[in-house]
Amino acid sequence: MSDADLRDRWDRQQAAYVADREGRFCAILNVLDLQSAGRPSMVVDLACGPAHYHSGLERFPNARVVGVDHDPALLALAHEAGQSYGERVRFIDDDLTADCWTEQLRDNIDGAAVSAVVSTTALHWLTPAQLVETYRGARSFLAPGGVFLDGDHFHYDHRQMRLRGWAKQHDRRTQEEAFAEGAEDWATWWSQLGARPGFAELVAERDRRFANRPASEATTVGFRLAALAQAGFAEHGTVWQLRRRLRRLRSDMTTPVRQPLRHVAPLRARSA
Ligand SMILES: C[S@@+](CC[C@H](N)C(=O)[O-])C[C@H]1O[C@@H](n2cnc3c(N)ncnc32)[C@H](O)[C@@H]1O
Repeated sequence: MSDADLRDRWDRQQAAYVADREGRFCAILNVLDLQSAGRPSMVVDLACGPAHYHSGLERFPNARVVGVDHDPALLALAHEAGQSYGERVRFIDDDLTADCWTEQLRDNIDGAAVSAVVSTTALHWLTPAQLVETYRGARSFLAPGGVFLDGDHFHYDHRQMRLRGWAKQHDRRTQEEAFAEGAEDWATWWSQLGARPGFAELVAERDRRFANRPASEATTVGFRLAALAQAGFAEHGTVWQLRRRLRRLRSDMTTPVRQPLRHVAPLRARSA
């Protein structure tokens, strides 16, 4: 199986766990387009994984992307994918929870004005305290007028029990549909990656790096908006959230759903 196959399978596997995953990439690119009048320059992708920037690079021929991640195996796939884009793409191996992660990034953007920082389905890996610091870090290198766009997928907790139950049901359905259509689950995908020549060591290193990662803690959209304000962003809000299947789910419920089923919101924040 080639690296390109593995990346395609990554996308299908991730889409099994993250309903409307493509929708958030599309929303992010649309905001980027509007914010930059169709010409974003430097974009930083936080926790980029194997990288899903191709559509952005194709759509915006002047854009450069710097991806940051701490998983050596996913970064190896990202490097492979980025080769055909030459100098337009760079990747940095860094831990977003480390104090100095912005320093290496600064060294790699060559003084360019960063018009946007983006992230998809990743920052829920951080604790709420780490999240605030990450936002602050992102804010520190955004050019005036730049945007931070986070297309995350985060969970409800005990504070929202009914919503949590419905969201779990919705997740289960999304997975059932995706697996029935041939998507792999997380464990199968990782075992296939580890079986690739040269990848066993990278996967072992990844496991070592993330072994003591604290368990994910649910955050609310309200918390994230407040954290963005705390980090110094001048304007913040929800530009998109999952709604597509809400009607179908609602018809199965005896109690009407009064709030969005799940907050999957690219959060927009203007830096100055
Ligand atoms: C579910 S994946 C999403 C990857 C990619 N953004 C995508 O949408 O396909 C979560 C990513 O967050 C990265 N990540 C988690 N914690 C991190 C940290 N502290 N520093 C850097 N990357 C981190 C993981 O390595 C992984 O690539």
